[in-house]
Order: sequence, then C-alpha cells, then structure tokens
Amino acid sequence: MTAEYARRRRRLMQVIGERGMAILPAARERTRNRDTHYPFRQDSDFLYLTGFPEPDAVAVLMPGRPQGEYLLFCRERNPEREQWDGLRAGPEGACARFGADDAFPIDDIDDILPGLMEGRSCIHYTLGRDAAFDQRVVGWVRRLQEQSRSGLQAPWEILSLEHHLHEMRLFKGRTELGVMRRAAAITVDGHQRGMARCRPGWREFALAAEYTHEFMRHGAVHAYPPIVGGGANACILHYIDNAAPLKKNDLVLVDAGAELDGYAADVTRTFPVGGRFSGPQREIYACVLAAQAAAIAAVRPGADWNAPHEAAVRVLSEGLLALGILQGSLDEVLAAQSYRRYYMHRTGHWLGLDVHDVGDYKVDGQWRVLEPGMVLTVEPGLYLRPAEDLDPRFWNIGVRIEDDVVVTREGCEVLTAGAVKEVAEVEAVMRS
Ligand code: GLY
Ligand code: MN
Ligand code: MN
Repeated sequence: MTAEYARRRRRLMQVIGERGMAILPAARERTRNRDTHYPFRQDSDFLYLTGFPEPDAVAVLMPGRPQGEYLLFCRERNPEREQWDGLRAGPEGACARFGADDAFPIDDIDDILPGLMEGRSCIHYTLGRDAAFDQRVVGWVRRLQEQSRSGLQAPWEILSLEHHLHEMRLFKGRTELGVMRRAAAITVDGHQRGMARCRPGWREFALAAEYTHEFMRHGAVHAYPPIVGGGANACILHYIDNAAPLKKNDLVLVDAGAELDGYAADVTRTFPVGGRFSGPQREIYACVLAAQAAAIAAVRPGADWNAPHEAAVRVLSEGLLALGILQGSLDEVLAAQSYRRYYMHRTGHWLGLDVHDVGDYKVDGQWRVLEPGMVLTVEPGLYLRPAEDLDPRFWNIGVRIEDDVVVTREGCEVLTAGAVKEVAEVEAVMRS
C-alpha cells in the first residue's frame, strides 16, 4: 500500500507543479462528552494520500523539493501518553513505515512551515473545512508576506486542493475496488443476517444490532448511522431513532453499510417483518424493484450521470399510474414531476471513502458521462404517507432498494448483488 499512496501523491504533485505546494491536515479528535472522544475517523483526503492513521498530523507535498517532496508533521513518541492512548508512529515511524521523505514533530509546525512556503507562489489548501486550521494557514502566509521587504518570496495564491484530488478519488483503482468488494461482502452478510433473524416484536435497534454484529466481527464499522424503520418510519428518509417495535404486518426498511479500511458500502433492503409481503406491499415493492433494475441497466460507460435516475423515475411513474396512485398520462406525470410526492430523492450518489463520495456530477453544465472505475449507488424508493387522496391500503408503505455499482468497460458490476431482493428470495431467507 505504501507504493499506492506514493503513486497518488506523485499524480497530485504533477498537477500542482513546482510553483505550488499542498497542505493537508489530518482529522481532529472530537470530544463526545467531558474526556471521552468519538471514535477517531481519519479525514478521507488525508487518508487517500498518506494512509497515516493518527490525528494531530499535517501532510505537506512539495513537488520538486530536492531534499524530499513528502513531509509529514505528526505527534512525537511519548511512552507515558502511549501507555494510555496507544502507540504513535512518531516522525521516525512516519518516514520508516509511511513513506514520508522527512518528518517533524507537529509542535514545531509554526516554526518550520512558513520557511517551506518561501519561494512557492501557490498554496493548494482547502479552505472552509476547519476554521481554526484555516487561520493558521493564512497566518503563515501573512507572516511571510510581511517579510517580503527583506526579499522573501511569499505565496500570493491559495487554491482549493479539492478539484484535482477529488477527480482522482472519483476513479477507483484496482486496490480500492478490492477493498470496496470486501466492504460490500460484509454488508451483504449483515443484510442476510438481519433478514434471517428479524422477528415481530423486536425493537428496531435489536434488528440494527444484527448488522453491527456482522460488521464488527469482520473489523468493519457502520459507514453511516443505520436507518432501521418499521411501518410508517420507513417513510422518514433519514430516520435513525431506531427505537420503535417492529410489527408483524409492517415492512421494515434497513439502510446499513459497512466501512472497511475507510471505504463505504451503502445498501438498503426492505422486507416484511412477519416474513410475507401483503398484496399492496408486494405491488409497491415490485415497482421499486423494477425501477432499480431499469436504473442499473442504464449504468454503462458513455451514459450520463442522470440516465439511471431517468430510467428509475420512468418505471416508478408507470407503476404509480398502473396502481391508480397517480392519475394522467406518463408524459404528464414526468413533465409535472408529480411522482416526486412519493419519490423525492435522487437515484444515487458517488461512493468511496465517503458514503456520499466526492466528484462532480456535472461538467461544464452538463451531466457527467459515466466512465469505468466510477462507483455509484442505485437506490430508488417509494414512500407513501397517509393522505385522504391515497387508497388506505397503501398507507405507510415505504420501500427503498439500494445497491452499489461499479462502472466497467462492458457495463457495470453490482458489488452488492449477493444481498437478496427478489420477493421469493426474501421470503425464503425469512423462513430460514
Ligand atoms: N445511506 C445514505 C444514502 O443512502 O444515501
Ligand atoms: Mn445511498
Ligand atoms: Mn443508503
């Protein structure tokens, strides 16, 4: 992996050029309460370029610097703190194990970094993510500028690092796809376990625990707070209370994905708590499933980003018309977007180190064209909340079906295809 990180840094440095340098801070530890922290999660950009797992670190890339192009500031070794909080690489470890050309104690950064900036005209740094660190970067630049009368050449430009870096992250290489396949497989196992063990009367959190169990025993964590919504709760898009009892005749929607080595999976399955779909549940489910199939079929190189969404919307609208939930012609429904009352989100997003991963969706005002190596979710749904003008047999049915798909040269590969979703298969797993 060290070689892979080095390759990524080299590619980014080619873009930055010798007039520029890049500064990337690691994520901060966040206090949960008093002296307890949230589990540490490394910043995705920082992780992508360094693989360095600690907080209190700053990576600096200096293309063409003869003494070394990749510098890392990090915590020094400290036997006493390490006894309490765990081992640190220290500057020596940063060079020996993480490929830094040179490494310094993070406490010395104020003294060293302004000197490194001298002679570089452009700082590539993403402003606006960490206000306190922004202040420091601007402070370093100003300090140099104030000395410009004595002949120092200070940077005069701060450019966002995100554009080029995120363009790189959008295309997943072989190593990344390998990790994403494993995250997908663990997620599939979680959904299999949840579906097989779910029982009426369980609270939603008990079902959530089945996914957590499966993720954790494989060394993964949840990539995002899982959504486990029974009955009406399935119609709340970002429902994370996960505390209500699951009722036999309701559907339950579970949106849960594992994060492994920083890479996310993002999968939703919807199934009947009691093990068998009712008639109306099956009708809505079949409509979403058909929409998902149409959307996945639209994922191929050369298609534009919006093609899967358009395919899903068309099939969902046809279904809603056939069920009498919407009135009018298909063209009218599509033109007026009246399906949006029941389908109010988009059909997917990029997926990678972040569950809603980086990468532009439009280029020069046009939807982006799909290319091999891009990974996206395909996740149509229907959410039918009670209303006077809706047949009560459809009330509180919420269905989403979500898979993770990589664009290949021939078309696409569904990374999460192992999670069952055909009606008969779902009912069979629930009987097992
Ligand atoms: N789990 C978040 C999403 O599906 O986008
Ligand atoms: Mn998603
Ligand atoms: Mn999801």
